[in-house]
Amino acid sequence: MRGTKSPAEIELLQIASTITSHAHIAAMRTADPEMNEFELQAVIEYTFRRNGAARPGFSSIVGSGPNSSVLHWDENNRFMEAGDVVVMDIGAEYFGYTSDVTRTIPVSGTFTREQREIYEIVLAAHLAAAELAEVEGTPYSALSEAANRVLAEGLTRIGLIESPDATMPGGRGGRNRSQLGLFYYHGLGHGIGLVVHDSMPERSMIVEGACFTIEPGIYIRPNVLEMLGTGAEAEALRLKLAPIVARYANIGIRIEDSYAFTDKGLVRLSVGTPRTIEEVETMMAMPNLFNELRDGETVEKYRIFIPPGNNR
Ligand code: GLY
Ligand code: MN
Ligand code: MN
Repeated sequence: MRGTKSPAEIELLQIASTITSHAHIAAMRTADPEMNEFELQAVIEYTFRRNGAARPGFSSIVGSGPNSSVLHWDENNRFMEAGDVVVMDIGAEYFGYTSDVTRTIPVSGTFTREQREIYEIVLAAHLAAAELAEVEGTPYSALSEAANRVLAEGLTRIGLIESPDATMPGGRGGRNRSQLGLFYYHGLGHGIGLVVHDSMPERSMIVEGACFTIEPGIYIRPNVLEMLGTGAEAEALRLKLAPIVARYANIGIRIEDSYAFTDKGLVRLSVGTPRTIEEVETMMAMPNLFNELRDGETVEKYRIFIPPGNNR
């Protein structure tokens, strides 16, 4: 029963997603260097309730700089710095139904060249998957494979992996594992509904009533090469990738939308959330919201209680 949703359920997911879009916009118009992550969480959750959502459907994730690569960072207490990206993975709960939408924004309002490169790869992967989701009967696994391909080709172009199918030692049972897994270590998405990770339709196909996310990401953890293990092959790969990892370190980018497949085809429920680089940068250039209510002196006192550069 939970694998596919009725039109009435989809309407609730639509409202939850519209509210979530408003919250992303509020955060984009608020973010500035030297603010704390919790300030963005605050305007997000304010916007949820202000528009009738009962609560966040899951702990709001606001992860900046190094925290952008932590999939479920929800301490949300780091002071953001110019040059950071911040991943905001949030969802409003509306009459029991939870949306799930992630945007990644540059704290200072414009992406750096390296951030743009990663962003464009992740967005292209998202779009490749979404295009397949327009066709009824497509298995969700085909969406995953399409996204994997685009991510792997993009990472190959910038030199973070050796080739789209490149492997490395350290897999289970002594086998090799994919190099893509160094930088993309979660599934493409999941069903949404009464909980943020809800059931998918039987056999995980795109059928009428399927409600799901698409959420590819790339995350460059500065210490990622330490995970390569030991041995000559690992050491050679480490040496080869180290300068490129250094160049992209601490960039974590995820782009997630909530979708429903209806009798009219694929609907992007979170269509109101700015998504392209241009849309995000344009929104961030709009006048700040909430700043008249900000007491910077009190926020700054928080630094006493957290170590500088706090991250996991
Ligand atoms: N917010 C959790 C997820 O994206 O799956
Ligand atoms: Mn999410
Ligand atoms: Mn999700």
